[in-house]
Amino acid sequence: MSDLACDVVIVGAGPTGLSAARRLKAEGREVLVLEARDRVGGRTWTDRIDGQMYEIGGQWISPDQSALLELVDELGKETYQRHRDGDSVYIAPDGTRTVYSGDMFPVGESTQTEMERLITQLDELAARIGPTAPWEAEDAAELDSVSFHHWLRQQSHDDLACANIGMFIAGGMLTKPATAFSALQAILMAASAGSFSNLIDDHFILDRRVVGGMQSVSEQMAEELGEGVVHLSSPVRTIEWSDDRVVVGTDTMTVRAGHAIVAVPPNLYSRITYTPHLPRLQQIFHQHQSMGLVIKVHATYPTPFWREDGLCGTGFGAGQLVQEVYDNTNHGEDQGTLVGFISDVNADAMFALDEHTRKQHILESLADFLGPKALDPSVFYLSDFGAEEWTRGAYATSYDLGGLHRWGRFQNDPVGPIHFASSDIAAHGYQHVDGAIRIGRDTAEKILSA
Ligand code: FDA
Repeated sequence: MSDLACDVVIVGAGPTGLSAARRLKAEGREVLVLEARDRVGGRTWTDRIDGQMYEIGGQWISPDQSALLELVDELGKETYQRHRDGDSVYIAPDGTRTVYSGDMFPVGESTQTEMERLITQLDELAARIGPTAPWEAEDAAELDSVSFHHWLRQQSHDDLACANIGMFIAGGMLTKPATAFSALQAILMAASAGSFSNLIDDHFILDRRVVGGMQSVSEQMAEELGEGVVHLSSPVRTIEWSDDRVVVGTDTMTVRAGHAIVAVPPNLYSRITYTPHLPRLQQIFHQHQSMGLVIKVHATYPTPFWREDGLCGTGFGAGQLVQEVYDNTNHGEDQGTLVGFISDVNADAMFALDEHTRKQHILESLADFLGPKALDPSVFYLSDFGAEEWTRGAYATSYDLGGLHRWGRFQNDPVGPIHFASSDIAAHGYQHVDGAIRIGRDTAEKILSA
């Protein structure tokens, strides 16, 4: 058992933990980062599957994600735009496939008007309530006690308009059924991206990728911290704490420090044993932040065949197995790659199938959007963060109904020398790598100014 000491010990080498470590080290503080996995990057993970490079986790950067863009720039990395030339495909609930251009789904005129009205309403709410303290809004309790599904149907009797709008936040972002989270939680998601309009604009929200992969941002931060700072395969089991000291324990070492930053997703806070135990408030509300579930589908073909048909590769269908599909061809590659997303209950249904049947269903869904050539990929892979012990879902955690206005105001409070930080409790960039970079940096600032 080795016994180490430093100024700040950080639990988790995802983008949050590493950006905190980077900031603290720049100010001359001694840091150690303890990471459970045998790699850094957490929910960002760039890997090769059958020779093909895939972003298993987080990958896209939108233009407002300035903390991440600045970091990428400082690290000397390059970004590139997602391929977006050509028409999109929309599949209606009755299975009708329509090729369209522009931002608005090709739905009937009255549904279009209702969708536009709901978008304006959500934009106004996001602008008024903002991402920093949504629980302060005068109608926070009201908006937090109704599910997003039911709130939408209180605003409009057009079920298709509600389903299409609901998809962008339910399947598209929080990866839970729209009945499982509140309207306030949905508004926070929109506000954290600048507006609801930004969130539904795939040219905005899925704008750029990092050449070489998003995980390389974390790998480079870890490398720059220097030898012996990041300890891999070191799950933190215990934190003993007093007013001004922590002793953090793994299976093979203890680290004594003045502060700890627990930079893990909130659903994993309670996997650590705290002595003394955390206050009642934290013990209660840490139980109310849970992970969503989404399967990220990767399929690679000898060429991006959809481009020859005048399609950009984008497809939407709120009632489809794969609700969204995009061209995800890597920088500089001739072969074409598609990425699709299967969320919440559809993901449950897919995991209940055997591997062969699951693949067939998923490829048929891709083919419904882009034609029969989609049935025959040269490489096929499903990201399954639900099966990862040190994440347990995807993309991120959110509160259950009523939790955000009840406990959100406490989520960033330290307990003695223990600070909690994660993209999932960030304001701007909430649930995204940008939010992770911001909250990592801001938590470091709090410690520096203490
Ligand atoms: P993260 O989970 O990344 O890191 C936490 C680290 O803590 C992990 O390395 C974990 O192993 C470690 N850990 C946990 N418990 C521990 C313990 N007890 N001891 C030691 N270590 C422990 N974002 C985006 O901006 N654009 C995108 O396109 C996407 N897409 C996307 C797809 C998929 C499939 C996923 C899963 C996620 C995304 N995201 C995303 C979200 C993005 O990846 C996420 O917001 C950030 O990775 C969060 O960074 P954190 O460091 O906060 O947590």
